[in-house]
Amino acid sequence: MLTIFSGVQPTGTITLGNYIGAIKQFPALQDEGQAIYCIVDQHAITVPQDRLELRKNIRSLAAMYIAVGIDPKKSILFIQSEVPAHAQAGWILQCIASIGELERMTQFKDKSNGKESVSASLLTYPPLMAADILLYNANLVPVGDDQKQHIELTRDLAERFNKRYNDVLTIPDIRLPKEGARIKSLQEPTKKMSKSDPNTKATIRLLDTPKEIEKKVKSAVTDSEGIVKYDVENKPGVSNLLTIESALSGVAIADLEKKYEGKGYGDFKAGVAAAIIQHLTPIQERYYSLIDSQELDDILDEGAAKANTIASKTLKKMENAMGLGRKRR
Ligand code: AQP
Repeated sequence: MLTIFSGVQPTGTITLGNYIGAIKQFPALQDEGQAIYCIVDQHAITVPQDRLELRKNIRSLAAMYIAVGIDPKKSILFIQSEVPAHAQAGWILQCIASIGELERMTQFKDKSNGKESVSASLLTYPPLMAADILLYNANLVPVGDDQKQHIELTRDLAERFNKRYNDVLTIPDIRLPKEGARIKSLQEPTKKMSKSDPNTKATIRLLDTPKEIEKKVKSAVTDSEGIVKYDVENKPGVSNLLTIESALSGVAIADLEKKYEGKGYGDFKAGVAAAIIQHLTPIQERYYSLIDSQELDDILDEGAAKANTIASKTLKKMENAMGLGRKRR
């Protein structure tokens, strides 16, 4: 049976980038095999976090997973720090990763760029991400395009481990969305849309109100041509908005170009905002009905118990293969 694994960091309310690039694919995958979805809070602390904010973001992300269609009867949903095997297997994989390959990760370069000092974990978190995936013997990892390099590293580390010790780890494949693998910032459409972008106008978040969405789309950077055409090279802003509307409405980009033929950017942006609002309204309703519920805690407790059972088995196999600890009689 196929095992699907993916995680999202609780570093703020998720954006349309996280949603279109990764999370939107999650509900459909529940019917392809055993889906396991994680709130990767240990990754979030690679950069400083306010403890109250972090707690709030963890719960919010859990509610959001369910609001977008994760069914806890089909999938396992859990919080990374509640399953100790992640940190333990992450350490093992750090021991087989080289500094050189970690320094080549573009996310490390981007996040450390221009900073006088960054945490050591910003460099070493890709082996932790590899552990997240490998502990569940995942075959398929649905993520956005920005995570491609980390999945390739995960495959390399698993192959190296298997070759050096024993054939314990499953080599996973990446699953990118057909479109929207990289949604761009509304203010700098050559840069990816990121949860932690301090420019509030650059991102649309899944909990934004209709008014906020309209305002942000209205102020999205486009160009002065006034023609709605998909051309990433020359019209990155317009292309980004077309990608967003297409991904959320299910209408092909070519049909959207026809819909906006002869119309200006005012009509175009109003159409994009309407498509976003229409898609997000039912998600927001479900989210608010869950956020303060006991049901959410019960789902997370059950998820952690199931995840612990699977992950600790793989960890034991890894430790045995390496000769860690004592041989059990
Ligand atoms: N702009 C994006 N377009 C498409 N997919 C994206 N993802 C993130 N941004 C985009 C995908 O979302 C999933 C969850 O990401 P994450 O929270 O684990 O880490 P991230 O990639 O670092 O996301 P952010 O929003 O940029 O978070 P911060 O600002 O905290 O670093 C992943 O599958 C990712 O590919």
